[in-house]
Amino acid sequence: MVATAEMPAAVLPRAILANLSVGIVGAGIGGLATAVGLAGRGFKRVTVYESAPEVGEVGAGIQVAPNFCRVLGHFGVFDRLKAQAVRLEGASVRRYSDNEQINSTSFASLEEEYGAPTYVVHRADLHKALLDRALELGATLQTNAHVEGVNFEKTELKLQGRPALSHDLIIAADGIKSGIRGQMMARRGEVDETIPTGEAAYRVILPRRVMESDPELKALIDAPIATRWIGPDAHVVAYPIKAQEAFNIVTTHISNTVGLTEDWTARASKDIMLKRFDGWTETLLKCLRLAPPGELVEWALRIHLPLTGWIDNHTVLLADAAHATLPHIAQGAAQAGEDAAVLSTLLAKCQTKEDIPAALRMYERLRKPRADWAVEMARITGENLHMADGAAQKARDEALKRAAAGGKSPDRWGDKDTQRRLYGLDVVKQADQEYARL
Ligand SMILES: Cc1cc2nc3c(=O)[nH]c(=O)nc-3n(C[C@H](O)[C@H](O)[C@H](O)COP(=O)(O)OP(=O)(O)OC[C@H]3O[C@@H](n4cnc5c(N)ncnc54)[C@H](O)[C@@H]3O)c2cc1C
Ligand SMILES: *[C@@H]1O[C@H](CO)[C@@H](O)[C@H](O)[C@H]1NC(C)=O
Ligand SMILES: *[C@@H]1O[C@H](CO)[C@@H](O)[C@H](O)[C@H]1NC(C)=O
Repeated sequence: MVATAEMPAAVLPRAILANLSVGIVGAGIGGLATAVGLAGRGFKRVTVYESAPEVGEVGAGIQVAPNFCRVLGHFGVFDRLKAQAVRLEGASVRRYSDNEQINSTSFASLEEEYGAPTYVVHRADLHKALLDRALELGATLQTNAHVEGVNFEKTELKLQGRPALSHDLIIAADGIKSGIRGQMMARRGEVDETIPTGEAAYRVILPRRVMESDPELKALIDAPIATRWIGPDAHVVAYPIKAQEAFNIVTTHISNTVGLTEDWTARASKDIMLKRFDGWTETLLKCLRLAPPGELVEWALRIHLPLTGWIDNHTVLLADAAHATLPHIAQGAAQAGEDAAVLSTLLAKCQTKEDIPAALRMYERLRKPRADWAVEMARITGENLHMADGAAQKARDEALKRAAAGGKSPDRWGDKDTQRRLYGLDVVKQADQEYARL
């Protein structure tokens, strides 16, 4: 049972703050979630600026972990997502070469323990649900609105070919390549750089009809299970999406990423992909061979080291701009959702504009250690999953087996302690309690 209690429509103590003008840069999952959070709390002047001529999320499937389900419930978005979602009943970790199951985790207990299971959806459905909700609540979206920079003294946005736009608060949700983060760091004398992880990702989405004639593949798409094949320098995650009408496969592999961009639209060669997974189980290869060649994409995975801070006067960073992560524990968008929920909860408590800096500091204090930790857990998981065959790999596999009986898992996604920390915290409740103590 997901908590679907929606945020009350108008909870702002003072009309003056309802008219606070908030500029959000970026209409990704982070920016739109923030627009929903703020508009849902009664802020009436929320504008999202997006460079792209139109918004429509590209990309693959995405896991909506219990902590993210909870946030989407608060936002009033969860229920409309459900029709397109698949409720995962478990995850299976398999050996790359022979498809042998190393172990499996049931997700049944997640719902008992945390009030929500893990769902998987197509990102486009999640993105659209957030966008529709933001607009319905009165937020404004401007597309073709490329922000060239911020004036941190004046809280102004500089848009291409337009006079400066003044706001009371600027929220930078401009993604891993955030220009605003770079500007903020430069003001502190720091150099902003994202770090190549050496990992890249292929994404393949198969329609149900191409899998149905093969009983083994049909069984894959019919089971509400996430499969992870783990092998030397790579692992592959696969699960059904779109109410089991499509099958989502994402590989992450150590790759020569020179020349690869982080762009999710970069076309890739199917032959090279098949060669890369030569020697992997026929079950996976059958799927990869079915990849529609014109739609195959590969992109480089980068991360960012923890920042010294997320705030510069009345401008704050949020989501990937603040804590870009590897995808290995499926928390990038989930942490973005938590950022949005916490920031909007705290801002809604401000009585006057003078309260805002303290609310921003509390946002950073509550969010930054948690998000930075999640980034580190994802990095460790990648290292642990990509081992070459040998003694270390055998020890890892034993640990994975033991973990099902309660031991610490090298795969932090399936690790009980990590799950407790990630899924067990209601960040909105935490923000309420912390603010009350101010
Ligand atoms: C392979 C992969 C799998 C993943 N799987 C999961 C998962 O299962 N679960 C999960 O929770 N997370 C997952 N994530 C992470 C998740 O996708 C991201 O953390 C999340 O989408 C970040 O959203 P964002 O809003 O910060 O950035 P983005 O989605 O990158 O959005 C940024 C937006 O800002 C716009 N923009 C940028 N600069 C400007 C500018 N100057 N002016 C105006 N607009 C601008 C861009 O056009 C873009 O629309 C995965 C990531 C990857 C790479
Ligand atoms: C998973 O681990 C548990 C506990 O060690 C064990 O009982 C079970 O048989 C394992 N399952 C598989 C499929 O290996
Ligand atoms: C912070 O922003 C406010 C309002 O935009 C401005 O008056 C103030 O001078 C700024 N302070 C700094 C240190 O930039």
